Amino acid sequence: MTATDLLRGRGVAALLGLERPIVQAPMAGGITTPALVAACCEAGVLGSLGAAVLSPDRIRSEVAAVRALTRRPFAVNLFVLDEPERFARDGEDAAMARIASWRARFGLPAQQPPARVCESFAAQLDAVIEAAPAVASFHFGIPSAERLAALRRAGCRILGGATNVAEARAWAAAGADAIVAQGGEAGGHRGTFVGGFEEGAIGTMALVPRLVDAVDLPVIAAGGIMDGRGVAAALALGAQGVQLGTAFLACDESGAHPAWKAALAEADDRGTRLTRVFSGRPARGLVNGFMEAMRADEAAMPVYPVQNALTAELRAAATKAGDIEAMSMWAGQAAALARPMPAAALVARLAEEFDAAVGGLAGVARGSGSVGGAAGRRP
Ligand SMILES: Cc1cc2nc3c(=O)[nH]c(=O)nc-3n(C[C@H](O)[C@H](O)[C@H](O)COP(=O)(O)O)c2cc1C
Repeated sequence: MTATDLLRGRGVAALLGLERPIVQAPMAGGITTPALVAACCEAGVLGSLGAAVLSPDRIRSEVAAVRALTRRPFAVNLFVLDEPERFARDGEDAAMARIASWRARFGLPAQQPPARVCESFAAQLDAVIEAAPAVASFHFGIPSAERLAALRRAGCRILGGATNVAEARAWAAAGADAIVAQGGEAGGHRGTFVGGFEEGAIGTMALVPRLVDAVDLPVIAAGGIMDGRGVAAALALGAQGVQLGTAFLACDESGAHPAWKAALAEADDRGTRLTRVFSGRPARGLVNGFMEAMRADEAAMPVYPVQNALTAELRAAATKAGDIEAMSMWAGQAAALARPMPAAALVARLAEEFDAAVGGLAGVARGSGSVGGAAGRRP
């Protein structure tokens, strides 16, 4: 029996009805296509649809598209946000002025302030409750007790994202089924909603055992996990599952632009860093021209989702042109380990590598050089 077999039907896998305790991270902005989500589900892991920037109608149609491809459980993920009219629009004019020359580069006309800066979270959540996916997962906060109760009545399991102990405790009190521990290595937006972003950028190695000890819920580790070594390390820290974003971003079925996928290989040279310049909220991505040019003014950027709305047309135009210097190329710190392949092949590789990593550790433990062996040997 392999180490992977031992994981079958246990912990998070049993809770969520999976063959393996692996979650393909939700990635908003068209990355987690129905094809990617369904391929992951069919491979025995949890596919997640990143629905944060989708209209309620698009949520309904994307869920239907996933269901046309798989009958297995999948997750739908939202950002927990205020309603669009409640965001302060401070700094908007200055932000538009800063972006103007970048827009001109792609032939975009002079910018008008966006009428609406995001979708209505209440309406998005209505659509998720109506769609009743097996799992609903949340980033940036916790929906109200009434809304969580409605999700539960619809039969959804609830995954809550946490970047520190206070957030994990808040999710436990709200009745989450499991916690997604987002370490500071993670690609994409920081989920932090209690305390500051700097204090919330705790590395996965430190965060996972803290949350495992702090809450009586299964913890799913996220951030910097790209291969079976990372899965084994996360489980050794006490996680019952793992959530991988950047690793699945590189897969054939992901909607990321090919130039973005190719740039992952250069991640060690470009570097990744947390930036507010694209969206107004710290998010980790590959360093590029727009990030560098805006860096000095980073603190003055409008809040999320106002800045996100202001850069939306620019990012779309850059993506259309395949220009990686103005795209928001979210990626985690271990991005250079990304491997382009079909999602099912990645899942199979993760299982093989996990077995090899666990087998290697067992060999180390038996050998004379083992930490435990040396310490435990009689004089
Ligand atoms: C391109 C991209 C988009 C992301 N979008 C979301 C999202 O919509 N919702 C969410 O909960 N997490 C999102 N994340 C964060 C992931 O859930 C997860 O924390 C992260 O990918 C883990 O780190 P890794 O990228 O090193 O695997 C995103 C990550 C990436 C790379």
